[in-house]
Amino acid sequence: MLVSATEMLQKAKAGHYAVGQFNINNLEWTKAVLQTAQELNSPVILGVSAGAGKYMTGYKTVAAMVKAMDECLGITVPVALHLDHGTYDDCYKCIDAGFTSIMFDGSHLPFEENVEKTKELVAKAHELGMSIEAEVGSIGGEEDGVIGMGECADPAECKSVADLGIDFLAAGIGNIHGVYPANWAGLQFDVLSNISDAVGAMPLVLHGGTGIPDEQITRAISLGVSKINVNTECQLVFAAATREYVEAGKDLQGKGFDPRKLLAPGTQAIKDKVKEKMILFGSVDKA
Ligand code: 13P
Repeated sequence: MLVSATEMLQKAKAGHYAVGQFNINNLEWTKAVLQTAQELNSPVILGVSAGAGKYMTGYKTVAAMVKAMDECLGITVPVALHLDHGTYDDCYKCIDAGFTSIMFDGSHLPFEENVEKTKELVAKAHELGMSIEAEVGSIGGEEDGVIGMGECADPAECKSVADLGIDFLAAGIGNIHGVYPANWAGLQFDVLSNISDAVGAMPLVLHGGTGIPDEQITRAISLGVSKINVNTECQLVFAAATREYVEAGKDLQGKGFDPRKLLAPGTQAIKDKVKEKMILFGSVDKA
């Protein structure tokens, strides 16, 4: 059931668990995430980066595929189709394409400009019943060519942006997209705690979910994180399972080259990873 992410994240915040945002890349990815959410009776957010949207030939294709798949699979759990790290222009493209949620990432803009554009997009999104995420303090690392230096957000700026009427807020707390370097200092819980106090009931978003130790995830949830984004980790397990299949020569046996067979181990690996995360985040049976 396609919905905005507002209600599921308000419930998560009040219930002290988090909803996973799993980024999708193609049909197999989407199917794996939707089927796992349904199986575990968990709400879920499908994240679409600009790069993934382009790869799938455009946001309209993505929205049409997700809507049809949601219906054909008989998905009854709440599913939000969300633009990840959107530019101003991409937010409008996703609004037109029929997404149910957008993230406007104005974190690299001067703060005043971030505020102005966020305000405008909040009005537009809410007019259409969509949810909107904003970002303060850039998330470190690289995702689909978008590079952030990784800075901790200022609680006062978080409060100003939260007051613009957004539905959930991504705040940098030392998190980084992609695999964490060996010398990573970990999440900055003092910063998270101050931000949480400043924004009150606003659900907080933790980007860069890949590779954060379980105990840090649990602590972040206890301090007000209600949405956790995972992308790279699903890519890594998909690649490893596909490699194993090919290296075992299974594509050369019988009709093992059939794409439906070739992609099956990777798809199963995504399902297993999504299940592991939903259990960790506490969203099972919260649909
Ligand atoms: P990872 O690729 O590090 O899991 O980050 C995902 C993310 O934050 C998407 O916005």
